[in-house]
Amino acid sequence: MGRGHLSLELEPEQIARLEEDGPAVVLLDQRRLPEEVVHVECRTIPELAEAIRNMTVRGAPAIGVAAAYGMALAALRGDDLAEAERILFESRPTAVNLPWALAQMRDDPTPERARALHEAEVDRCRRMAAHAAELFAPGTRALTHCNAGGLATGGYGSAVGALRAAAERGLLERVLVDETRPLLQGARLTAFELEAAGIPHAVIPDSAAASMMARGEVDLIVTGADRIAANGDTANKIGTYSLAVLAAHHGIPLYVVAPTSTVDPATPDGAAIPIEERDPAEVTSRFPARNPAFDVTPAALIAAIVTEEGVHRPPYAF
Ligand code: MRU
Repeated sequence: MGRGHLSLELEPEQIARLEEDGPAVVLLDQRRLPEEVVHVECRTIPELAEAIRNMTVRGAPAIGVAAAYGMALAALRGDDLAEAERILFESRPTAVNLPWALAQMRDDPTPERARALHEAEVDRCRRMAAHAAELFAPGTRALTHCNAGGLATGGYGSAVGALRAAAERGLLERVLVDETRPLLQGARLTAFELEAAGIPHAVIPDSAAASMMARGEVDLIVTGADRIAANGDTANKIGTYSLAVLAAHHGIPLYVVAPTSTVDPATPDGAAIPIEERDPAEVTSRFPARNPAFDVTPAALIAAIVTEEGVHRPPYAF
């Protein structure tokens, strides 16, 4: 690490919070990390919806937390709450935590309710991380994809939480971090968090994962999730499905670590999960491009799904 680099453990309220004086939802701008720690104030619901859409705040549980604060903001402002909910609902389609959090706020759109929801997400992370750590053997060399750390959950992290808990128990040798094209959540955010936690890690190009597995350098893969269907099919950052296919070929377990707020029993299987297609310019503005932001990993390729309730093994029935 070079001198002058930022390395810090972020508290939940630094990632997202509601300021009642103003009022405003204040978000850590994840687009600027790791170079700068800058906060953005969203004073209206359209501003907050845009911050979710443009990934100022991102990661399934953190999007839900931001939306919960948004409903409290709308109530403080005296906005039409049904309209506020509609605007926030439309900001990103894949993470089920967004509609889940909106539903949680419907009967009680208060700052206290939103803060309780945020605290509960962080608490779920700690509990699921403790369960997930049981899947690690001494000396584990893990690989992770995207960012499923505190930045993505509002604190502590799901997959990164599992890595932290395993490291605390002395079970983790090091982590390979997929850089996660095109927006580099791994290279920018997960590496930043692992550095702050003092966990040995190395960023790799996404396309290096296969050869790392073939060389015997990966003992397990751990990722988060954006939506888990009733049958265990799981949507996560684009590239997770390729890792799962590679893991099956190499006999390596892939574990999904996610809170129950990411489980969607109303969606029967992966085919019913809406997949966000983002602006092709995030890939290239020089040529025609496609930019699917998520893919679906079939349940059969997931060795276990870990929630705060424990370790679920196939066949899944949520
Ligand atoms: O597009 P993003 O950065 O919001 O996608 C995030 C992911 O895919 C994460 O892996 C997922 O939300 C799990 S976060 C605990």
